[in-house]
Amino acid sequence: MIRSKIIKNLNLKKIKYLPINISKFFLSFPKILLRLFFNFDTWHISSFAHREYAKAIVKYANQRDSKNSVVEVGCGLGDIIRRLNYEKKTGLDNDRKVLKAAKFISKFFDSSRTDFQEYNFLEPKGLEGVHDVILIINFAHAFNSEILKEKVEEIFKNNLSETGEIILDVIEDKSLKNYKNFHSIEYLTSSLSSDIFKIGEFGSSRCIYSISRNFNKSQG
Ligand SMILES: C[S@@+](CC[C@H](N)C(=O)[O-])C[C@H]1O[C@@H](n2cnc3c(N)ncnc32)[C@H](O)[C@@H]1O
Repeated sequence: MIRSKIIKNLNLKKIKYLPINISKFFLSFPKILLRLFFNFDTWHISSFAHREYAKAIVKYANQRDSKNSVVEVGCGLGDIIRRLNYEKKTGLDNDRKVLKAAKFISKFFDSSRTDFQEYNFLEPKGLEGVHDVILIINFAHAFNSEILKEKVEEIFKNNLSETGEIILDVIEDKSLKNYKNFHSIEYLTSSLSSDIFKIGEFGSSRCIYSISRNFNKSQG
């Protein structure tokens, strides 16, 4: 009787998830320690190794021919941008605590060094410079589609190199409760002469798109 109760309470069904949870914990552990000093938002302790979308972005961006300059808006700890092989790398975020920690990590694990700066995506002052890749990953769901559309148009016109790409993610499943805003890539790019390429689709219906200039449309 007691034995069967113990076995029932062990909930063996859950054990098959144990290895992945243990590996998640171990891979997040350095960030958990770092958080003790920098006190950044708990979201950032999630490990890069368990974020398939982030790995796909790194792979895609590192395969480009032109790799002069990359900017990531909303870079957090810099898990993505730190792994990019570009000559110039700029990580922007509006959270000072996470930026301090990103700078600290970058000293040890970012041979090509990222320049981390404080920047609020919503402020009227636009991005500076012209870049091959501009990443807007995992935070655009905080803004409504009208605001995001304006920002994408502005960046597309002012900050992309000739063959440059904006890479952003869109959560498509409107029934998901963790997200406030759901965007449509067609709406965001409706006034642009652009090519859309879907880099991939991941958990929580997250689709990663690349937006680049469509030379046929803009010339014809
Ligand atoms: C969920 S994290 C994503 C981090 C990183 N892009 C990734 O996928 O690993 C979102 C980041 O966006 C930043 N953020 C949110 N609103 C922002 C804004 N208005 N301007 C700049 N950064 C912002 C947050 O501080 C946070 O670091």
